Amino acid sequence: MPKKTIGIGFGTWAWGNKLVWGYKAGTDDILLKKTFFEAINGGLDLVDSADSYGTGSLFGQSEKLIGDFLEELPKRKLKKITIATKLAPFPWRIGRNGLNKAFQQSNQRLKGNMTRVQLHWSTYRYAPWQEEQLLNGLGDLYEKGLIKEIGLSNTGPKRLNFLFQNLKKRGIKISSIQMQLSLLTKPSLEDENIKNICEENEIEYLAYSPLGLGILTVPPDKHPEPKTFLRQKLFQRILPKTVELRTLLTNIAKKYSVSQAQVALNWIRSHGAKPIVGIRNPFQAKDAISALNWSLTKSEKQNLDFCRKECLANMPQNPFTSP
Ligand SMILES: NC(=O)c1ccc[n+]([C@@H]2O[C@H](COP(=O)([O-])OP(=O)(O)OC[C@H]3O[C@@H](n4cnc5c(N)ncnc54)[C@H](OP(=O)(O)O)[C@@H]3O)[C@@H](O)[C@H]2O)c1
Repeated sequence: MPKKTIGIGFGTWAWGNKLVWGYKAGTDDILLKKTFFEAINGGLDLVDSADSYGTGSLFGQSEKLIGDFLEELPKRKLKKITIATKLAPFPWRIGRNGLNKAFQQSNQRLKGNMTRVQLHWSTYRYAPWQEEQLLNGLGDLYEKGLIKEIGLSNTGPKRLNFLFQNLKKRGIKISSIQMQLSLLTKPSLEDENIKNICEENEIEYLAYSPLGLGILTVPPDKHPEPKTFLRQKLFQRILPKTVELRTLLTNIAKKYSVSQAQVALNWIRSHGAKPIVGIRNPFQAKDAISALNWSLTKSEKQNLDFCRKECLANMPQNPFTSP
C-alpha cells in the first residue's frame, strides 16, 4: 500500500469557482464547513489554498474561510495537518521582498496557521530573474522563523533541481512541488524526472486536479453538463475522447465496489504522488478518504498507464510551467 495520503484543495475549480462566481455567503459556508470537517476528521492531512483563490470583493476568500474553520479545530488535530497556501508571483511583486506583504496578508487570513508557502507558478518563461529573487525572499522569511516550509508549483524538473540546489546552499529545503497530474495529463519525460528528483531529495510530489476537474468521475455512458462555461467546454471536448479510459476506470471501480474517483486518486498514489483533490461536499470528502483503504494491483496500474498513453484528449497545461 503506498504510504502517500491525500490532501484537499480549496481551489479555483473545486470550491473557488463557486467562491468567485456564485458564492452565497452563509449557505455555502455551511456546506463548505461540513465538507472541511468531514475531510479533516477522516484523515486528510494537507489543505491547499492560494491567495488568488477569490477575486474582487471575495479576494482571499478561500484562505479566509480556512482560517475561520481552523479556529474550531482542536490544537492536537491542527498540529497534524499541513496548511499550505500559494502566493502568486504577479508582475508587481518583484525583488527579494516582493512577496512579504502578500505573505503577511495570507498569514493573517489563515490566522497564523500557515505551515507551507508555495510559489504559485514559475516566472522562468517570462521573467526568469524574478523567480530566484522571490524564492530567496521566502528563504529570508524562513530564516526569520516566519515560515516553516517552502514549496514550488508549476515548475519543471530543470528549474526544480536548480532552485532546490540554490536554497540548499543556504541550508533551506524545498518541501514540495505541486504539478497537474492525472490520467488526463499527457505522460512526459518531465513527469518522470520530477518524480526522480522528489524521491532523491525527499520532496513531496503533490498532484493537482487529480480528477481532471471531475471528468474522470463521469461514467462512460454519461454526458453531464457542468454549470460554468469553461468547464462545459472542457467536458464537451474531452468526454467523447475518453470513453475507453473511463470504461477501464469503471470496471476497476466495480471490482472493488468503489467510485471511479477513488480509482483515479489511487492511480496517482501508485505513482508515488499525493493527490490534492477538489472536494465540494461531505460525500466527496468521505469518498476521497475511502481511497486510502485500498490500492491498485500492478497490472491495474499498468493498464491505466497504457490507457493514459493512448488517450486522445488531454487537460490543458498551465502555460507558465517552466522546463
Ligand atoms: N498549483 C496550481 O496551479 C493549481 C491549479 C489547479 C488546482 N490546484 C489545486 O488542486 C485542487 C484540486 O484541483 P481541481 O479542483 O482543479 O480539480 P479536481 O480535484 O481534479 O476536480 C474537482 C472536481 O471533481 C469533482 N469531484 C471531487 N470529488 C469527487 C468524487 N468523490 N466523486 C465525484 N466527483 C468528485 C467535483 O466536481 P463537481 O463540482 O461536479 O461536484 C470537483 O469540482 C484545487 O482545489 C487546488 O487546491 C492547484
